[in-house]
Amino acid sequence: MSSEKLNTKLVSVGRNKKYCQGSVNSVIQRASSIVFDSVQQKKHATKHRGERELFYGRRGTLTHFAFQDAMAELEGGKGCVLYPCGSAAIANSILSFVKTGDNVLMTGGAYEPTQAFCNTILADMGVSTTYYDPMQGAEVAKLMTSDTAVVFLETPNSITMEVPDIPSIVSAVRAVKSDVVIIIDNTWTAGVLFHALEHDIDISVQAGTKYIVGHSDAMIGTAVANERCWERLRERSYLMGQMVDADTAYVASRGLRTLGVRLKQHHESSIAVAQWLSARPEVARVNHPALPESIGHENYQRDFSGSCGLFSFILNEKLTDEQIANYLDNFTHFSMAYSWGGYESLVLANQPEELNAIRPVGPVDFEGTLVRVHIGLEDVDDLIADLEAGFDRIK
Ligand SMILES: Cc1ncc(COP(=O)(O)O)c(C=O)c1O
Repeated sequence: MSSEKLNTKLVSVGRNKKYCQGSVNSVIQRASSIVFDSVQQKKHATKHRGERELFYGRRGTLTHFAFQDAMAELEGGKGCVLYPCGSAAIANSILSFVKTGDNVLMTGGAYEPTQAFCNTILADMGVSTTYYDPMQGAEVAKLMTSDTAVVFLETPNSITMEVPDIPSIVSAVRAVKSDVVIIIDNTWTAGVLFHALEHDIDISVQAGTKYIVGHSDAMIGTAVANERCWERLRERSYLMGQMVDADTAYVASRGLRTLGVRLKQHHESSIAVAQWLSARPEVARVNHPALPESIGHENYQRDFSGSCGLFSFILNEKLTDEQIANYLDNFTHFSMAYSWGGYESLVLANQPEELNAIRPVGPVDFEGTLVRVHIGLEDVDDLIADLEAGFDRIK
């Protein structure tokens, strides 16, 4: 992972004099009301209210502007809209570009709540969803209809971690409909390991809850949009009341400063653990995009500049409920939790039938229990010893 330029950028983005006012970090400006000194100033603020001008709390304060500028610069977009969590960023990005009668082409590898949003809220609005197999590459474009308004991508696939050929999908769907809005859930790459907007994707959405915050203590969503989609996304999200409090925006800005070094460590440690796992007799397959045997590794190699701490592996056997409980309940360093991206290691297990229930494009290609791990910043040797003890428990 080449990180020199990235680390330098991560230290400086969003830290201009106006936002920092003499301190290293941006000020925390908590506000609902913004007080105007004169009618003239109020008029100016009203006219420029979408352009980082203090106007009303819901439009953001200096603290929000600092983080928004930082994200837009890091992901190469025109601007960044903030949301209270990643799911809000996903839902509002889609809602900003669809109307009744439209169709959303959605990856079958999407984070499960993203699918549930399509199947319930969009369905109730009369917006249909077509799921595609993301590993089919350019073939995906055959599912486009004249009603397709949004194509939604996610990389790697949620939980099973295959890396789709995103550039092929993007160019194929653009060839069918050049103005279709293409949105990606770019959380796994923290928006810095895969530069979505450089690949002709319109909006890069992230659960900043994960690596940007990095300490499992705050939730935030970001959506960085290109010039074409920026104003509509910003205004429609505003109308839907999307914003986050200044303290959370500050915590997210602070997270950026160490994002590069944290990611580098997650990358190195997760590869070391993944390599160790792939040599274990209990393991049928390791799904880590940086490992050559992982599905879509060639796409990872071509498009990504590194990996993070989240991956999965498949056991040779399908564990019983009792085995799963004994396995998961007794780790020393791995906690059980749904989120990820913090400094701590995490573990969860899924049975194939549970994954099939969230794979609208067909069943998974394995029969053993899948274990998803997030490799945190602990010493790798301790993590490996913990995983080894876990294997002893399921013998
Ligand atoms: C890939 C992905 N996208 C989006 C989200 C949603 O993020 P949040 O919990 O901030 O709503 C998650 C959460 O786990 C996720 O893993």
